[in-house]
Amino acid sequence: MAIREVLKMGDPRLLEVAAPVSTFGSAELSALLTDLWDTMRALDGAGLAAPQIGVGLRVVVFEVEHNPRYPEAESVPPTVLINPVLTPIGTLQEEGWEGCLSVPGMRGLVPRYLNLRYTGFDAHGRPIDRSVTGFHARVVQHETDHLDGILYPRRIRDLTRFGFSDALFPGGA
Ligand code: NI
Repeated sequence: MAIREVLKMGDPRLLEVAAPVSTFGSAELSALLTDLWDTMRALDGAGLAAPQIGVGLRVVVFEVEHNPRYPEAESVPPTVLINPVLTPIGTLQEEGWEGCLSVPGMRGLVPRYLNLRYTGFDAHGRPIDRSVTGFHARVVQHETDHLDGILYPRRIRDLTRFGFSDALFPGGA
């Protein structure tokens, strides 16, 4: 187990499309998941995608309990999601503030589908099928974007709503 270096925006590895996982239950996958959890929790992230630590596989983890970086967010159970497939439910989108461990110190207002079904697999290859809403749906969309080489600033519609957290939210948030 280890806290890994998180790649920052500008690193070309963050722009690559990650490859699907074909073997479940391996020692390598288990070690990757441990490193993702350790790194995410050490940095108070809500989620982390394998490409952010330089591993080009379609693997993400996310969890929101009480997160000081997202004090208002509803909780999301700790989830390992492998080879995710996202299907929006309806067309309604909502703007919300996002940050990213690969874009440290910044926040942006990003539109995401409000209601979402996602499928994929857990660490053991068991299927996952959930329909979610709100912040949970937002986190899954943000993390899955990483697997396609997309960082959230590319989703921002109004770049006046992108900046440094301490300047956008003086006094915290
Ligand atoms: Ni991110």
